[in-house]
Amino acid sequence: MLPRINPTNTQAWFLLKKHHEEEMSRRQMRDLFSNDPDRFAKFSLRLEDILFDYSKNIINQKTLQLLLQLAEDCKLSEAIHDMFAGLKINETEHRSVLHTALRNFSYTPILVDGKDIMPHVQRVLSHMKSFCDEIHGGKRKGYTGKKIRYIVNIGIGGSDLGPVMVTEALRPYWKKGIETYFVSNVDGTHITETLKKVKPEETLFLVASKTFTTQETMTNAHTARAWFLEHAGDEAHIAHHFAALSTNEKEVTAFGIDKANMFEFWDWVGGRYSLWSAIGLSIALTIGYDSFESLLKGAAVADEHFRKEKFDKNIPVLMALIGIWYTNFFGAQSEAILPYDQYLHRFAAYMQQANMESNGKSIDRSGNPVNYATGPVVWGEPGTNGQHAFYQLIHQGTSVIPCDFIAPAISHNPVGDHHIKLLSNFFAQTEALMNGKSENEVKVEFMKEDKPQDDIKRLAPFKIFEGNKPTNSILLKEITPHSLGTLIALYEHKIFAQGIIWNIFSFDQWGVELGKQLASRVLPELSDDAEVRTHDSSTNGLINAYKQFRKN
Ligand code: F6P
Repeated sequence: MLPRINPTNTQAWFLLKKHHEEEMSRRQMRDLFSNDPDRFAKFSLRLEDILFDYSKNIINQKTLQLLLQLAEDCKLSEAIHDMFAGLKINETEHRSVLHTALRNFSYTPILVDGKDIMPHVQRVLSHMKSFCDEIHGGKRKGYTGKKIRYIVNIGIGGSDLGPVMVTEALRPYWKKGIETYFVSNVDGTHITETLKKVKPEETLFLVASKTFTTQETMTNAHTARAWFLEHAGDEAHIAHHFAALSTNEKEVTAFGIDKANMFEFWDWVGGRYSLWSAIGLSIALTIGYDSFESLLKGAAVADEHFRKEKFDKNIPVLMALIGIWYTNFFGAQSEAILPYDQYLHRFAAYMQQANMESNGKSIDRSGNPVNYATGPVVWGEPGTNGQHAFYQLIHQGTSVIPCDFIAPAISHNPVGDHHIKLLSNFFAQTEALMNGKSENEVKVEFMKEDKPQDDIKRLAPFKIFEGNKPTNSILLKEITPHSLGTLIALYEHKIFAQGIIWNIFSFDQWGVELGKQLASRVLPELSDDAEVRTHDSSTNGLINAYKQFRKN
């Protein structure tokens, strides 16, 4: 059982509050830097080819020491042990949390209900490998004898966002001759537009759903099946063109997918942590099985690091603690993830689900409302696009928004001077966010432009940047399957560590159930033109207006 410790009742929390109020709330990072020439060396870490620089935060050694004490007070070490050991730490669903087992290449046994799960993991991995080999090698063909060229993954949430993000991030590794598409939205436009791009006789549909009951996925899967049969005619061809990635064998069989084309995973893999499981088949088919395995092995590096490294050198633990510092002591309500790499354009969207579905909770592990903030809003877009959109608010708005800047040193597309221009922005932004621009600097700039004194006085306040905006910088040598695997897993463990300290359950998601229930109540009411009166006046009004619109 995970501990039940209200973090605000710990000694560390009390001391952190005092430390924040008395020492850090007005502390300027630029002073911290000028007082300590070794600050970068002290507040940065390397893990293989990933550099994590957390020096541009409003922290000093004492802050860190107290945050580390908070981790100890909240029994984080014990919780890490329990997760890796397969204890049922997802207590509200009575499940283990073992996405780490999916990348356990040391093959040390991991027991769930007294049984070693590793042979199952290996069996599915070798099924995935042989399937990929057969598709890529042309042994497994479409119903007209042509090679499979198009992969269409149908899934939503964790059965979509991870594979989309990873395949986009690893575009340079795509297998020649394979094109992959993702359909998630129940909006018919998504499947319609996708089907326009593929040919039925060369398409493999992957129905990716842990439960195999999710409305969006099953609706899209049935539409794809009907479209396929319109062309292929014979139901017998389904076996060559549909595969299922699921934990639910009964529903998979009922859908008509051959058991041989079912790639299994287990209830101890959370949906938003499932890209490492059979849900990753779209990834393996797109970049090749070997690259998929490199992704898993990269994640395993982060697992070992998280499990074994002392907390003061432990990147995910430090990421978690720094996040808590801003959320709970500076009142930050959001965190931005800003990758300076176009291939990572879905990274923030993926992390948004991973983080917000995990830690967007207000009930603690004893079932009581929390009396402190938990998971922040996570958002972001690739730089430099974000700079021309929302950075204004980060620089000069009224909220504290801690940002993670992520960039590869080496680009997969070294055209002209694009990459140094991109990176010059990456380096300049975190510096500017920290230093800001003082009134004096603004005035000097104006004077150089020979601006009249009246204008200088009037305009100066708008040009001042107060600075002291916290950032982490994550500089990777290059985005490869291996380094991406490590990066994702570092964030997964950050989320875990925060959930433990916040005393919440990070691996359930009851909050998404209400919308599903309400939508299924409304759905039958939309099937005819009768006036609806069963809801509040706004909902009735909207439904009835919709019915009028569709009539005329
Ligand atoms: O959005 C809720 C959720 O349960 C996610 O956690 C999950 O990733 C997604 O739905 C899809 O679920 P499934 O894989 O069962 O279709």
